[in-house]
Amino acid sequence: DDAPVKNALTLAFEAIAGSKTDAFAVAAGYTAQVLIPWGTPLNNAAPAWREDLGFTPEIQLNSVGMHHDGMAPFPLDEANAANHFILALNNEYIDQGALWAPQGGPTNKNEGARPADEVRTEINAHGVTLVEVRKAANGQWEHVLNSQYNRRYTSATEFALSGPVAGTDYVKTKFSPTGLVTRGTNNNCANGYTPWGTYLTCEENWPGYFVKDSGREIDDDRLGIETGRGRYGWETAAGDASEQNDEFARFNATPTGANATEDYRNEPRTFGYIVEIDPYTGDRVKRTHLGRFRHEGCWPGKLVAGEPVVFYTGHDSRNEYIYKFVSDAVWDPADQLAAGSAADRLAIGAKYMDKGTLYVAQFNADGSGQWLPLTPESTTQDGRRLSTALGLANNDLAGVIIHTCDAADLMGATPMDRPEWGAVDPVSGEVYMTLTNNYKRTEAGTAPTFTNDGSAVEDLGVGYNYAPVNGPNPRADNEGGQVIRWREPSVGATTFEWDIFVCGAAASDANNLSGLTELNQFASPDGLFFDAREDGQGILWIETDNGYDAVTDYTNDQVLAVVPANVKKADGDITVVGAADQAQLKRFAVGPNGCEVTGIFTNADKTALFVNIQHPGNWPSTTDATVVTSGTVRPRASTVVIQKVDGGKIGV
Ligand code: FEO
Ligand code: CA
Ligand code: CA
Ligand code: CA
Repeated sequence: DDAPVKNALTLAFEAIAGSKTDAFAVAAGYTAQVLIPWGTPLNNAAPAWREDLGFTPEIQLNSVGMHHDGMAPFPLDEANAANHFILALNNEYIDQGALWAPQGGPTNKNEGARPADEVRTEINAHGVTLVEVRKAANGQWEHVLNSQYNRRYTSATEFALSGPVAGTDYVKTKFSPTGLVTRGTNNNCANGYTPWGTYLTCEENWPGYFVKDSGREIDDDRLGIETGRGRYGWETAAGDASEQNDEFARFNATPTGANATEDYRNEPRTFGYIVEIDPYTGDRVKRTHLGRFRHEGCWPGKLVAGEPVVFYTGHDSRNEYIYKFVSDAVWDPADQLAAGSAADRLAIGAKYMDKGTLYVAQFNADGSGQWLPLTPESTTQDGRRLSTALGLANNDLAGVIIHTCDAADLMGATPMDRPEWGAVDPVSGEVYMTLTNNYKRTEAGTAPTFTNDGSAVEDLGVGYNYAPVNGPNPRADNEGGQVIRWREPSVGATTFEWDIFVCGAAASDANNLSGLTELNQFASPDGLFFDAREDGQGILWIETDNGYDAVTDYTNDQVLAVVPANVKKADGDITVVGAADQAQLKRFAVGPNGCEVTGIFTNADKTALFVNIQHPGNWPSTTDATVVTSGTVRPRASTVVIQKVDGGKIGV
């Protein structure tokens, strides 16, 4: 099963040195433009941005949200797909200092009841932004004010639930006694898209927004639902116990009523999903069958007519897992819709995403691996029926999904170094995934130290606890992170072969397993994008979200490019990609101080690379992203559009 040789493509830019300034740096021969920074008005209901603009719920609802993360383009015009599309953009969380800068910061940030309108504004700064963008005649990109496609989804927007969990007792609340609807999507981190033209947005660190002080269940502990006070104290805006405002009380999941439809004990169980949005109509739904956890993102696998449609997802927490969803329905190329098609995209989504099987990855030390099914009838490592081992009724698929991580423990999944983004080579079907770092990885042979007080969690497995090194996670106290890769014999296969594509490190590290140099040293890979080019070749773009001092001392977070070479490994020999294979791993861009670089795609004709700058410290000061801020500005997460001065294709 030799794959085609893929190293003929050459990166035709000079790698750049590290940078630590209040500016975006990019390789020579390229420009970088700031587009749709936080607070950009989407329509006339919001005023133009200004440094001293005081935000209200109304203004934020009609402006670009905060903390840009995953994103994807949806063409409006097939003939000009490269330069005119709806940009779907995640707004992961907020910088309260920047949001409330004119007022001197948020009110009652850490103690006491927060004002309702401040909380509403913060709720409206989260979620997803849809905005029509296009390349203007002058070569610069612009957004279309008042476009019918401009929309916001926030932590208050209603979403239907679908798939096995929808309508079950697990998700019945005071707001939705039928368990079919919830309010809000939260902490939308990375993303995906479907071949039928919808956006996938993924709920990651949502557990921190919910409080549950009593009546906690095993999934509350496992996923990290808060006690006391939520991340921004949104639940405190509900008023006192006698006059609970339902709009905010739902963030407090502590049982107060006689049953689940009298309170919000189940509200957290309506989060943790892959959310599908039709960017053309605004319709949306949470697809529960793809598992419930801290979803980083969701990446469609290779499409083959007559074979299942698959999606890869990862749970970004220490020693959590990688998952694959395999549809029951097989791929019908007629479902690959053109821009402007009037077909019901969410009906197609239901066909491929509501019925299928969720699997979790087990990596073997010899470079093989298998996908373990998370179904009630699956047999656990210790020979029990999975539903029984989880304490569920015999055929309770919804219960298995609600307890995805515990189910994965019981099946013997391999604990990973924080799975972040995936990327799929659409020709070979090979999947790449970043494992960003893990300080809870110990040397082999060291007994895992359980730190979670929940004894049931300890009994079930290692999630959130320490785990010893294993094949794809070979370094204890891993600060560099790595990119792994796997290949499957067919789209719906339950086996795979894996290798480690590259290990992050400082060039000076003893543990510099991939032989990185000053010009390509990096750590904590996070964003990832396989940029498919002609003849089955491609560029793998790697973005970082790093806190490893040995690298942060040298550079801010960055964008690197590499043309993946085939790495053949002898059976039983796990090869870490070495220096010779990394000759083309090059630093392409570096973000401003304080930021992480995330969100990435190239436009259809490959003349523009879009990335996002999240949580910058003191940037941007102008639309030219490369201008160093002089003095101090109110920082704004932004999309950056990188183009070649000569108008050519990015990277080559
Ligand atoms: Fe929101 Fe795992 O990054
Ligand atoms: Ca991330
Ligand atoms: Ca990260
Ligand atoms: Ca982030």
